[in-house]
Amino acid sequence: MEKNKVALITGSTSGIGKAIAIQLAKLNYSLIINGARTTQLSEEYNNSLKEIYNDALKNRIIYIQADISKKSERITLVEKVKTRFGRIDVLINNAGIAPPERKDILNASESSFEKVLKVNVQGPYFLTQLVANWMLKLREEIINYNPYIINISSISSFTSSPSRGEYCISKAAMTMMTKLYADRLSEFNIPVYEIQPGIIKTRMTSSVKEKYDHLINEGLTPIKRWGLPEDIAKTVKAIVSGLLPYSTGDIIHIDGGFHLKRL
Ligand SMILES: NC(=O)c1ccc[n+]([C@@H]2O[C@H](COP(=O)([O-])OP(=O)(O)OC[C@H]3O[C@@H](n4cnc5c(N)ncnc54)[C@H](OP(=O)(O)O)[C@@H]3O)[C@@H](O)[C@H]2O)c1
Repeated sequence: MEKNKVALITGSTSGIGKAIAIQLAKLNYSLIINGARTTQLSEEYNNSLKEIYNDALKNRIIYIQADISKKSERITLVEKVKTRFGRIDVLINNAGIAPPERKDILNASESSFEKVLKVNVQGPYFLTQLVANWMLKLREEIINYNPYIINISSISSFTSSPSRGEYCISKAAMTMMTKLYADRLSEFNIPVYEIQPGIIKTRMTSSVKEKYDHLINEGLTPIKRWGLPEDIAKTVKAIVSGLLPYSTGDIIHIDGGFHLKRL
């Protein structure tokens, strides 16, 4: 069994997941990096990781291409982690997609709804089921075992955007998923947290950059700047460092104050 702590970050080939992976590497975790479409990590990404792990890179990281919306790929993903590391300490449910195209709720298609819900909810829901059951066994095998599960949802779980209703529904469902697993796993001392990012500068928001530049400038967020993937990664660091004890099922808003109701 791997002697270092192990973290699986879904959707960590780019954006928020990548920043979380680099942050956890700095905390000396061994990592499973995952994406659906990416076949191998970019040279720039590999170099950033090499700077952290030096010669140990190959022993400390694996990239597993797996579509978390597919049951068979989720099972293979977890089997590969078992074979390679024999343990898991942190699961970050980060992989997610926006609707293939923004479409008014009055015209949006059922196929887009199904696709978004499968990736953003069904995938993490059942991946968590697999990992949580494994964590229960590991609790009996590893001394001082302190596992964490962290869901990356969105301000869309409480904010209406009728041009991407299926995304909002998927994130609202993830918020309930956080509560359900936090409740069920509390007796086993496995805390479950949810981070709700606001408007974060990544590939996902690149097509609406000008719109958000304008809105942020106009005061949409009390803190007048784009969020960065590193803002989310630092929050993950706080959680896995044990800085939020006596807490589970909590939502942490990392949105520049967007969630505040203002007069
Ligand atoms: N950016 C924002 O403003 C924002 C705000 C709130 C919440 N979020 C949430 O934050 C998470 C990360 O988003 P991001 O902005 O960092 O987007 P991103 O840069 O597009 O990254 C998405 C990641 O998810 C992976 N992915 C997509 N579908 C997958 C699947 N079926 N199975 C496994 N991996 C999959 C992608 O990998 P491949 O490309 O290799 O397939 C990529 O690594 C998402 O859940 C998103 O909803 C983002």
